[in-house]
Amino acid sequence: MTKRQSVVCQMAAGIVAAALTSCAGTPSNAAPVDPGVRGGAPGAGTALKGLSADETAFFQDGLARFVEIESVTGGQNNGLGARFNSNSCQACHAQPSVGGSSPAVNPAIAVATLNGAKNVVPWFITKNGPIREARFQRNPDGTNDGGVHNLFVITGRGDAAGCNIAQPNFLPAGNPLTGQNGNPNIIFRIPTPVFGSGLIEAIPDSAILANMNANASIKQPMGISGHPNAHLSGNANHSANDGTITRFGWKAQNKSLLMFAGEAYNVEMGVSNQLFPQERDETPGCVLNPTPEDTLNFTTPSTSTPGQNAAVVSDIEAFADFMRMLAPPTPAPDTPSIVNGRAAFAAAGCAFCHTQSFTTGKAIASGSSTRPSLALSNQPVNLWSDLLVHHMGEGLADARTSFEPLRSGVSGSASSSCTTDERRIWSRQLRLIAAAAARQTRSSSVSTG
Ligand code: HEC
Ligand code: HEC
Repeated sequence: MTKRQSVVCQMAAGIVAAALTSCAGTPSNAAPVDPGVRGGAPGAGTALKGLSADETAFFQDGLARFVEIESVTGGQNNGLGARFNSNSCQACHAQPSVGGSSPAVNPAIAVATLNGAKNVVPWFITKNGPIREARFQRNPDGTNDGGVHNLFVITGRGDAAGCNIAQPNFLPAGNPLTGQNGNPNIIFRIPTPVFGSGLIEAIPDSAILANMNANASIKQPMGISGHPNAHLSGNANHSANDGTITRFGWKAQNKSLLMFAGEAYNVEMGVSNQLFPQERDETPGCVLNPTPEDTLNFTTPSTSTPGQNAAVVSDIEAFADFMRMLAPPTPAPDTPSIVNGRAAFAAAGCAFCHTQSFTTGKAIASGSSTRPSLALSNQPVNLWSDLLVHHMGEGLADARTSFEPLRSGVSGSASSSCTTDERRIWSRQLRLIAAAAARQTRSSSVSTG
């Protein structure tokens, strides 16, 4: 670690502690109440308001494909595997409604043995635990890896005759719920929701940069900083492809929803497509369909032939359409406790990174060159994130070096020192953040009182 980083991180840690200490001065008669898990209707999973009829039709088409279940061969939707984590987008993006995160009952257990498959359920997958996917930090020879290693293989499935490959070895096992004390080479990822992601896609780079540079005289002494992600470019902070700011994924590694859809289709489900045309595993006997498996469909007229799409757009475009026009979650109504928490959150400096709101660009294409999308243009995006990546300290470091060179180890407890592990902020839900601020305020009151 460089000296500069260490100093910055120590300052950041100190200032958060100082900010929290100041929160302890909150009068005790305004004691915050943690509202807990939100009950009632999900308040998420619907289309953006103000979509045109055409946009709505494409949203619906995308939704239908997002929930479709893929087979290996011989079904309506083919292409699963040879290696995969699950068989539909919705399998992992389901809670509290389609587009969200892991459902309450983990679908990874059923998919492991679906249709004759013989997969062993890895030790870190439990019935009511989160869906997890696994990246390996290093290859067996010690060189850097960082890639996703799929939990399952199609071997044994009735629709995958002739394929014979084995699952990766995820042992030794650790605590199945926390993942702790298991194979230290594994990095876990849980599914992030895609609600409101079209609005995030439509934020101009200039707005992200202006927000990063705003309030510099306050943020700098607090040690609060972040930067747009550096993506394999050698040209720090920008996409290797076109130099603009990347924003999707845990480390803001992906540029667009279409890019993410293409990657997820091949990485999570093993469905090759026009962005990622080759199979990830080309073991003879396991490439059972022509590639890419998902393409534009030139047979535009409706057809009664099973397996042929009537629509021209490919699945990855349809997934992106759905996510782009999927509304952000509706915040729960304010309570006095939430209002207090929000104020404490801003006062403590949290909102310097967890930026409450951006505004999308002025004229986002609807498909028409003359008529912008009203639902996506010039809209508020209350995402509580600055879309930058931040140093998270050693406790959260995962040694994934795909985006920046590793300059520090992974062992050690969370502390004031930092590695180069950097993450995007996900917090998009006002209720969550207000509750978190309330909890922070309460615990600091306890510790100082
Ligand atoms: C096996 C579970 C699983 C399946 C199946 C899956 N995802 Fe995901 N998804 C994840 C995980 C885990 C992440 C977080 C990954 C990361 O950033 O490292 C994620 C993140 C995303 C994101 C980024 C959201 C953001 O705000 O940055 C998008 C977009 C996405 N998935 C779309 C899809 C689409 C489209 C499909 C179907 C083709 C799909 N996912 C299938 C697990 C899954
Ligand atoms: C220096 C920037 C920065 C500051 C200041 C900051 N955070 Fe964060 N916060 C982050 C990042 C980055 C993440 C994502 C961490 C990860 O992915 O592991 C995060 C994640 C969170 C999450 C989890 C959100 C989710 O959706 O999972 C909560 C809750 C949170 N922060 C609360 C706070 C509170 C409360 C404060 C003020 C005391 C605060 N943060 C100050 C950068 C910051």
